[in-house]
Amino acid sequence: MTALASAAAELGWEGWVARRQAQMERWLAEQLPADAPAGLADAMRYAVLDGGKRLRPLLVLAAWEATAAHHDVDPPATEPVWAAAGAVELIHAYSLVHDDLPCMDNDVLRRGKPTVHVQYGQAQALLAGDALQALAFEWLAAPPWADRDPALAVALVRELAEAAGAHGMAGGQAIDLACVGRRLDRAALEDMHRRKTGALLLASVRMGALAARAPAAVLAAISAYGRALGLAFQIVDDVLDVTGDTAALGKTVGKDAAADKPTYVSLLGLEGARACADALLQQALAALQALSAPRAQGLAQLARWVVQRQH
Ligand code: IPE
Ligand code: IPE
Ligand code: MG
Ligand code: MG
Ligand code: MG
Repeated sequence: MTALASAAAELGWEGWVARRQAQMERWLAEQLPADAPAGLADAMRYAVLDGGKRLRPLLVLAAWEATAAHHDVDPPATEPVWAAAGAVELIHAYSLVHDDLPCMDNDVLRRGKPTVHVQYGQAQALLAGDALQALAFEWLAAPPWADRDPALAVALVRELAEAAGAHGMAGGQAIDLACVGRRLDRAALEDMHRRKTGALLLASVRMGALAARAPAAVLAAISAYGRALGLAFQIVDDVLDVTGDTAALGKTVGKDAAADKPTYVSLLGLEGARACADALLQQALAALQALSAPRAQGLAQLARWVVQRQH
């Protein structure tokens, strides 16, 4: 096969997204356990499959494609990038299962379906989240490639653990719950958003670049992109909670105001929040200028999609 400028250029943006989403669905369906004691596998599969934009795996794959030496339409099946993409989606899915619990946001609708605790009960939802989190790290440390390149496996595990843990997503969620009914200033709100959501998006692109063995300067550009996009993503989530449509979003809108949560919209208004997201989009696109333009096309389109999406 002749070398490609990039799969996103070859397939077109919509073709690229559709292909990678379908590949991820298949990969996840094959790799998730089909049986586990007492119906736990059913709850895990329900939490992960049949829904979701798969944004984080798309970011992993696009970052890999922007930085790897490889130039075919698809990353080879033997490359750790697939496990990395699957692992970030598992952490995300687990975070949603717990985020929806009655002790957190108390939501009954997610990805257009009843939430996991509504479908399977709270104990099973907690355990499904626990098991998905553990499975994410199992995938990153799995043979054969993790035996071939243990240093890369450790780097990926470290990246994901830091993003998911006390200083990242879990810490951000703790701030989120502690701030109900309070007003945060702009710096504190930004810090919460960077932790609870931004950290995992940043880790996604960094893991894609690490899996591609990108040099430090490229990793720095990818990280600048991921930091800007990670914050923009949660700002848009705040906006969609006000302007979005429950059917299109697959989750109940208006929950932030009902729970009296501080958001970019409550602090800056709709227009102010949108302007912030647009400025961050420009920052993310500017960071990509350090990379080859054709190869970074997927990342550039993903950034526009994140900020302009309606769901
Ligand atoms: C929603 O994430 C939860 C947040 C971190 C704000 P997504 O909007 O990516 O949800 P799915 O995966 O498409 O359902
Ligand atoms: C969730 O933020 C962040 C997570 C870590 C899951 P939200 O609580 O705003 O996400 P949604 O709106 O329920 O998807
Ligand atoms: Mg929440
Ligand atoms: Mg929520
Ligand atoms: Mg939200």
